[in-house]
Amino acid sequence: MNYIVSFCLLCVMSACSPDNGNTGARPPGDGGETPDPTPTEKVLKDAAFPVGAAIEPRYLDNEAYVNLLKREMNSISPENAMKMDAISRGRKQYDFSGADKIVDFALDNDMRVHGHALLWYYITPQWIKDFQGDKDDWIEIMEEYITDVVTHFKGKVTSWDVVNEAVDDDGNIRSNDIWYQNIGEEYIALAFEAAHKADPDAILFYNDYGMVWSKTRRDKICEMVVNLKKEGVPVHGIGLQMHINTDTPKENMTTSLAAAAACGVYVHVSELDVATNPSNSPTATYTRERAEKQKASYKAMFEAFGTIAQDKRYGITFWGVADNHSWLSLRPDWPLPFDRNLKKKEAYYGITETFGE
Ligand code: XIL
Repeated sequence: MNYIVSFCLLCVMSACSPDNGNTGARPPGDGGETPDPTPTEKVLKDAAFPVGAAIEPRYLDNEAYVNLLKREMNSISPENAMKMDAISRGRKQYDFSGADKIVDFALDNDMRVHGHALLWYYITPQWIKDFQGDKDDWIEIMEEYITDVVTHFKGKVTSWDVVNEAVDDDGNIRSNDIWYQNIGEEYIALAFEAAHKADPDAILFYNDYGMVWSKTRRDKICEMVVNLKKEGVPVHGIGLQMHINTDTPKENMTTSLAAAAACGVYVHVSELDVATNPSNSPTATYTRERAEKQKASYKAMFEAFGTIAQDKRYGITFWGVADNHSWLSLRPDWPLPFDRNLKKKEAYYGITETFGE
């Protein structure tokens, strides 16, 4: 009896009962007599482009996590440790401890570090919210922060998300961004220039969400990046966050990646996760069906990324490693390629299946 037939029988017998809890485990075999459904010796970093994960400093205290990262990833992004609220304690006061821990680990293990993110409207330290000054003063504190942080990591951090989420869903520059409110749209160009001046070798990204589902967002982001480049502003890449779900059509993935590549810059899938509970049901459980749909989505994403020109592929970064640490795990969901026990899920095999021989 081959695996598929035996699994279907199991499935009927058990009515495909879901795993208990947020385990994200692969479905059971039939007692070890049948082969692995998708045997592979490959690891994620065998892809034809860098593959990374967003991590927190505390993960590095866990040996199993560390071993997984070394085995599977060749790029690292700090999930939160390089955000302004993590680093900035006041004007010219910095706490780099968490970020340094991640950077040292990555460099010790020959991994690329992608810095995330110098400016993000959503996370603003209180001292900046309280800051009083005219436009020039605001430019000064912004440039000072960027200069100090990029200089601290110069030669260690390969690339930066310089500006994160500056565009709103109507295709305008986000008006609830404190830098926009105090400096105007010019803050974007000035931020890239400051980062470039501090580390001329760093690859600089504009990062945003929703290019996968909104043409308005795609067009605006591309127009902005192309215009910045025309003005000589050092912007080298577009990061597509890619927080998708199992209902996201593959066509949207290919279209958005092609659109970003057509802007003439590197393309980074910078925050990939695939939610398996798109309707956000509070009673959802991790079923065989969710696992298979998620596998198809991850596979589609890696295939779609492979369709853009090789010299534009900056890489794919997962937004986390294991389901239980995902930023989406406040609701029932299982968005990542590893389960809470760091076991490979079906999604993992969907990815490695795309690597060819
Ligand atoms: C999220 C982190 O994953 C959470 O831990 C944190 O509480 C909020 O930020 N877009 C981004 C990321 O650019 O920085 C966000 O990360 C997810 C959405």
